[in-house]
Amino acid sequence: MSDVLTKDKKEKLVDYLKSNKGLGQSALIPALHKAQELFGYLPREAVEEISLRLNIPASHIWGVETFYHYFSLKPRGKHIISVCLGTACYVRGAGRILDKIKDVLGIEPGETTPDRLFTLEATSCLSCCGLAPVMMINEKVYGELTTKKVSTILKGLK
Ligand code: FES
Repeated sequence: MSDVLTKDKKEKLVDYLKSNKGLGQSALIPALHKAQELFGYLPREAVEEISLRLNIPASHIWGVETFYHYFSLKPRGKHIISVCLGTACYVRGAGRILDKIKDVLGIEPGETTPDRLFTLEATSCLSCCGLAPVMMINEKVYGELTTKKVSTILKGLK
């Protein structure tokens, strides 16, 4: 692996893969989760290492990665903002909330700010429709959003 990945994290991934050696295909998804947990996304070097150690063609791994929404092939921000665009949120103004965030951060859904602080995503129902409109930032849910509330929350994270 190249120096794009820090030595410590590279070693953790290699150790993990060594402990799952011989499991082949069944170890693939957990290995991708492990890599994303370590690096925040799936760098090419990590995928090559997984391919080599689990003896799975890289082309197959790329297919799995692009199939599962959870996995990201690009570096992501420290704060992952997921704005719900499900029906309940949408009718209660989720479009305005998303526009406000796009405005403040200067990015579109699927993009990351150049300082790697924020990644913006639009998502389907987050299963807390009673709080609509809703967004999640990392693991935390923010409900009954207004554009003013969103500005305050974002300021607090900068
Ligand atoms: S529609 Fe947004 S949480 Fe359900």
